[in-house]
Amino acid sequence: MKTRLTDVLGIEHPVMLAGMGGVSYAPLVAAVSEAGGFGCFGASTMGSDEMVEQIRAAKALTRKPLGVDLLTAMPDRLMADVEALIREGASVFAAGLGVPRDVITLCHEHNVLVLSMCGKVRHAVAAVEAGCDIVVAQGTEAGGHTGQVATFPLVPQVVDAVGDRVPVVAAGGIFDGRGLAAALALGADGVWVGTRFIATPEARSAPGYKDALLRTGEDGTTISRAFTGKTLRAVANDTTRHFDEHPEELVKFPEMLMKSMNGGWMHLGADENTEGVDPDRECYPAGQGVGAIHDLVPAGDLVRSIVAEAERAISALMTK
Ligand SMILES: Cc1cc2nc3c(=O)[nH]c(=O)nc-3n(C[C@H](O)[C@H](O)[C@H](O)COP(=O)(O)O)c2cc1C
Repeated sequence: MKTRLTDVLGIEHPVMLAGMGGVSYAPLVAAVSEAGGFGCFGASTMGSDEMVEQIRAAKALTRKPLGVDLLTAMPDRLMADVEALIREGASVFAAGLGVPRDVITLCHEHNVLVLSMCGKVRHAVAAVEAGCDIVVAQGTEAGGHTGQVATFPLVPQVVDAVGDRVPVVAAGGIFDGRGLAAALALGADGVWVGTRFIATPEARSAPGYKDALLRTGEDGTTISRAFTGKTLRAVANDTTRHFDEHPEELVKFPEMLMKSMNGGWMHLGADENTEGVDPDRECYPAGQGVGAIHDLVPAGDLVRSIVAEAERAISALMTK
């Protein structure tokens, strides 16, 4: 399945692994890239040295292209981390919260593409005017930090605004090939999938996370400031309910993130062996597509099945 996205990234399938902090580490990134998709690290939960080790670990598993998503909200580290990801051979720098122009210039000097996450049309326009090469239009259905506009209305409006200049990638609530077919029909050039890839053997996760995804239905997530101080979609639990009832206890980002870590309800970045995680209180980011997750599936199989199902969905439409 060739699109402008597969062309610019040099990959086989228009399926990108979302750069999920705490989840998208070397085994998962490498599995997605090796299957012909595009693996992207979620490096926001990594120290700088750990990020370099992780890129090297993935490069030992695959020679195919991969990218790194960094927290641009930490400007003191940003430039050095971008220099490191360039040096280590990443081909995309993905930014969740806007990208400074000097970072874009540095990436372009080294043939690294810059991808920007956008939840509104005006963010996409600003990103492209600043020089970003790929835009991800992320709807409110998405797991993690998210906005208010849903994927279905957002994607075609972003396509209309910037799709003549850069590839647009759809995100938020996409978990199978029907979602990929729908995204292409909306004018997108591919998909950026998060939550579905957490329920894979390769994904890093804190204790209880994958089980929580398996048991949560499509209405079991909520948008809350309880974990980071920014609006974040996660599995609804005692923590989200507590802060719904006591909004006066919320503080701003990043103080709320510190409060969550110190309070013991935020272990994003921890692995399965971590102690002290209470699933009824823990931060388990997840999108509304979570209700469709019934089993753990190897990440490479997921990439292949998403593409095969999209091809079937598109040809079934032709015969309707
Ligand atoms: C556990 C988790 C962590 C995430 N961390 C980041 C992040 O660090 N940076 C970022 O740009 N997006 C992050 N996101 C959002 C994803 O990049 C992506 O847009 C989203 O997962 C897509 O929606 P879906 O979960 O419905 O597939 C995260 C999402 C999840 C579920």
